[in-house]
Amino acid sequence: MDTSYTSMKTVIISNRLPVKIIEENNEYTFIPSEGGLATGLGDVYKNGNSIWVGWPGIEVPEDRQQEVVEKLAALNLYPVFLTQDEINLYYEGFSNEVLWPVFHYLVTYAHYEQSYWDCYRSVNDKFAQTTLKLLNKNDRIWIQDYQLLLLPCILRTQQPFATIGFFQHIPFPSYEIFRLIPWRKELLNGLIGADLIGFHTYDDVRHFISTATRLLPVNSTANVLSKGDRQIVVEAFPMGIDFDKFSGLTTTQEVKKEIDYFKSGKNEVKFILSIDRLDYSKGILERLRALELLLQHHPEYIGKIELYMIVVPSRDSVPQYRDLKEQIDQLVGNINAKYRSINWIPINYFYRSFPIEVLSALYATADICLVTPMRDGMNLVSKEYIASRNQNDGVLILSEMAGASKELTDALIVNPNNLGDIMEAILVALKMPLDEQQRRMKAMRSIVEKFNVKHWVQNFILRLNEVKDTQKSLLTK
Ligand code: G6P
Repeated sequence: MDTSYTSMKTVIISNRLPVKIIEENNEYTFIPSEGGLATGLGDVYKNGNSIWVGWPGIEVPEDRQQEVVEKLAALNLYPVFLTQDEINLYYEGFSNEVLWPVFHYLVTYAHYEQSYWDCYRSVNDKFAQTTLKLLNKNDRIWIQDYQLLLLPCILRTQQPFATIGFFQHIPFPSYEIFRLIPWRKELLNGLIGADLIGFHTYDDVRHFISTATRLLPVNSTANVLSKGDRQIVVEAFPMGIDFDKFSGLTTTQEVKKEIDYFKSGKNEVKFILSIDRLDYSKGILERLRALELLLQHHPEYIGKIELYMIVVPSRDSVPQYRDLKEQIDQLVGNINAKYRSINWIPINYFYRSFPIEVLSALYATADICLVTPMRDGMNLVSKEYIASRNQNDGVLILSEMAGASKELTDALIVNPNNLGDIMEAILVALKMPLDEQQRRMKAMRSIVEKFNVKHWVQNFILRLNEVKDTQKSLLTK
């Protein structure tokens, strides 16, 4: 490896910064952002030679922007300010009412509005302008996720020799789905401005290559696309978590206290955990229906199991998210009203976020973790549960539609649309002997420990360096 690269600065760019602003009594404070990208990469960037460009999460009036710039600069974070119109059209509109549903195969949720697209283009350009002001000649650029698909090409046009990596944290759909988008070619052209494009799974890579070669005048050899004298490498980099952090947390005094609190008086009750952002891709309603099915067909478990379901508020100004929230509220209410007794309730439902210590205690206490998304790029909750199981017990039930299912093959793998399948998996998990739990958990822990988030970052950066070196040597031939 060319060692000059190790001293290169990395400019990470994502829609959201790893912190977001909360305004209370006219005071701004910063709290961690939700979601896999921010939690996964949020700690890693602090340790390296990196800066991060992104939106701070709310509209900041012009006369207060300087204050925010200064506070964030101390954390090596550089804000891109969005107006309320841009938040509505680029973030809620194009990103979350077009790309998010289509990339998660929920095409009927998509609204192909021209105004969304126009704003998506101009905001990608805005991100480019902020980045270009911060960029030095030898910096490497690492763009994150679907909100910035046009950014690689915009930056390439301005800086033809720049080192540009792109990683997508959500699935890439098959050609038949992707081609429905009116601006499909523009999106692909935007993306192939990068030198290296990464996805979580090999299936995403396959879908992307097949889509690009069918829609664009590019050639492909294995996982390399070529356009003129440029080569673009497309590869799978399954994202990991900070294993040591989650494993270590469960042994702290604070978390131990929480664990004792959860366990007290519940020796006879098996505890099932579910944690997600509010999102229709997460299969929350189906998961609840599967639990209802179980209570209906296996009344012997009434009073013997409890679901702790945390739904972290997200995108609640997008209509489909608001509707989903109402449906969840209703279904939880119905199930609890039907099955609860004076001193037992089947679903403990929380619509809020929790500090990491509480999450850690929940992970460490749960007999079963139920992760059943309809479709998910990776799903880091499943890995956080595994890292928190220091005794090697507990059972993970995991959707085959989550990227994580490709690595965590010792989980009980289910089809999230098959409620009977989920119910059966819960029954198997409830009865699983300890030695089988331990055999499966040990195997999964070694994978999550080894392929942790540091490994993911290093692997991507190393590959980006190699790809750039190869390109340079091809050009000088
Ligand atoms: C997923 C996406 C991220 C996004 C996160 C939270 O993890 O891959 O790009 O930041 O959800 O969603 P939000 O819309 O609140 O940023």
